[in-house]
Amino acid sequence: VPPSRDRLRIAIQKSGRLAEPARTLLASCGLHWRESRDRLFCYGETLPVDLLLVRDDDIPGLIADGVCDLGVVGRNVLAEQQAAQVADGREPVFREWLPLGFGGCRLALAVPEDWGWQGPAQLSGKRIATSYPSLLARWLADEGVSADVVMLSGSVEIAPRLGQADAICDLVSSGATLAANQLKPVATLCESEAVLAGPVAGFDAVRGELAALLMRRLDGALRIRH
Ligand code: PRP
Ligand code: ZN
Ligand code: MG
Repeated sequence: VPPSRDRLRIAIQKSGRLAEPARTLLASCGLHWRESRDRLFCYGETLPVDLLLVRDDDIPGLIADGVCDLGVVGRNVLAEQQAAQVADGREPVFREWLPLGFGGCRLALAVPEDWGWQGPAQLSGKRIATSYPSLLARWLADEGVSADVVMLSGSVEIAPRLGQADAICDLVSSGATLAANQLKPVATLCESEAVLAGPVAGFDAVRGELAALLMRRLDGALRIRH
């Protein structure tokens, strides 16, 4: 995919919870695309706005590197990577531009159902599995609790049964995954939904105008929905 200066490139999730609603929302802004054979790139036919289909966790980095201009991603992913940058003493280079009203979920701390929950101090010295180590570390520090963070990129919910961890910190939407694993949510670290993410610094004139046009159309599309 060649670099582009006169077209806007938006990264969206290739597959998963946000993939379909992200495309539907962008289509409702009057965008239509021609898909490449490998289905990773969609060329905008009605406006010079293209899509790149990627893993959601890669979206903030693609914006940071300037490979993509904007992205549709869960606030949870954005917040985790921002927290990681801040913990590293770096200034975040991407930020939330607009909440998009779908993909609602929360990042929650969950413990085995048979624990009598008395509060965060109970986690002291315990192992907590998560894909959100920076948000969890920040929350633990805020609560004044010292615990071991076990980083797992997936299947976090089975970690307690495997003896890898005592508790978990993961996304909860319907709650079915927690229930199926005999876990219960006891604290919320972050309320999440899909957001439009973009660079902290703006764009040059051409892409700036395209981004402003897209924002106006998104605003309109979201207003009609609510
Ligand atoms: C999240 C989370 C849980 C599940 C919770 O994963 O990691 O597995 O959703 O949803 P529920 O409360 O409705 O059961 P997701 O499907 O977003 O995919 P990922 O873990 O691969 O990112
Ligand atoms: Zn993911
Ligand atoms: Mg999952």
